[in-house]
Amino acid sequence: MFESVEPAPPDPIFGLNEAFKEDPNPLKVNLTAGIYLDEKGRTPVFVAVKTAERRIFEEESTKSYLGIPGAADYVAQVQRLALGQDHPALAEGRVTGAHTPGGTGALRVAGDFIRSIQPEATIWLTNPTWVNHGPIFLAAGLEVRSFPYFDRTKHVLSYDEMMTSLLEIGAGDVVVLQGCCHNPSGTDPSAEQWHEIGELLADRGALPLLDTAYQGFGENVEEDAEGQRILSKIVPEILICSSFSKNFGLYNERVGALILVTTSSSAATAALSHIKRCIRANYSNPPAHGSKIVTTVLEDDELRQSWSEELGRMRDRIRTTREQFARGLDERRVHLAPGGNAFITRQKGMFSFSGLSVEQVIELKEKHSVYIVGSGRISIAGMTPGNIDRVCDAIAALG
Ligand code: LMR
Repeated sequence: MFESVEPAPPDPIFGLNEAFKEDPNPLKVNLTAGIYLDEKGRTPVFVAVKTAERRIFEEESTKSYLGIPGAADYVAQVQRLALGQDHPALAEGRVTGAHTPGGTGALRVAGDFIRSIQPEATIWLTNPTWVNHGPIFLAAGLEVRSFPYFDRTKHVLSYDEMMTSLLEIGAGDVVVLQGCCHNPSGTDPSAEQWHEIGELLADRGALPLLDTAYQGFGENVEEDAEGQRILSKIVPEILICSSFSKNFGLYNERVGALILVTTSSSAATAALSHIKRCIRANYSNPPAHGSKIVTTVLEDDELRQSWSEELGRMRDRIRTTREQFARGLDERRVHLAPGGNAFITRQKGMFSFSGLSVEQVIELKEKHSVYIVGSGRISIAGMTPGNIDRVCDAIAALG
């Protein structure tokens, strides 16, 4: 059966990571995946996470299965983090959700759920979007299309074109947006624009699905949730896929959640019953450890404070690195956009959508061992005081 199988292409992000590991150049630089690195190039474990883990180790008395939708106390914490403590839907019992293996797991469960209740739905993705969105929803058997989101020349949101395209979207279709720190463009709608998007989607009868993997990397945990909180008060129903890979540094623990706001508590119960069937037929029930960490930290004032401060320091380092990167390019008289490099400091979250072409990205890899995703997306946190000059020099040397 396997003799005639042709090899599949490598993953556009993790495939590059593998190529990076094999590159013998001691000066190689990895700016591919959205993974936070500190000034020494390490991905640290949060202090609050380590403390929580010690506590969990001491107190844990069983490794028995969780229920199909996972840990209820964890899901309740994620709902509050995503929607805010005082969201009316929480008080009205219209919110439900499941604990999933990472944000990717949440997206796939969302895809399977939509396919099971609304198989004709088209999934609309921003152009550009995270490279894995298309494959996830296609794998769930759904039709996938895209709408304009970002102007690659001016480095701004293509707001008017986006709104015009969304007018064409059918009732029952699903529009995938990102809660904050849009991956890869680093460009989010303003509060006013979120209002207008919400009104338009409600008017069209389309379901928004918000992928939120970088909450806390833009302004702070609360402000970064503003868009999804606005939207979820305007539209009757919404899906939110949360990930704690980045903002808790729990990359390999695979911890995320699918949150649903519905119109009534009976609708929430019915929706969850279908979600449970999707989960059961996929991975049965989620791994517990990451959820215990998140719950322990969020429920303890001191740990929560420590987590929030450490996250703030990560955000600050990324901001400073953005400034240094823009300045480094200015000093070498390289302008990645007609208006200069200021767009790099305006973009939010882990990435800069640099405007570098596919050919330039290949040249950076082949000639300089500087690894960037093919779309020109640079993971800013991969730059450290030790390699930022090398990255700027390599970009300046591009043909
Ligand atoms: C990224 O976009 O680099 C991260 O979300 C990692 C991943 O899973 O692709």
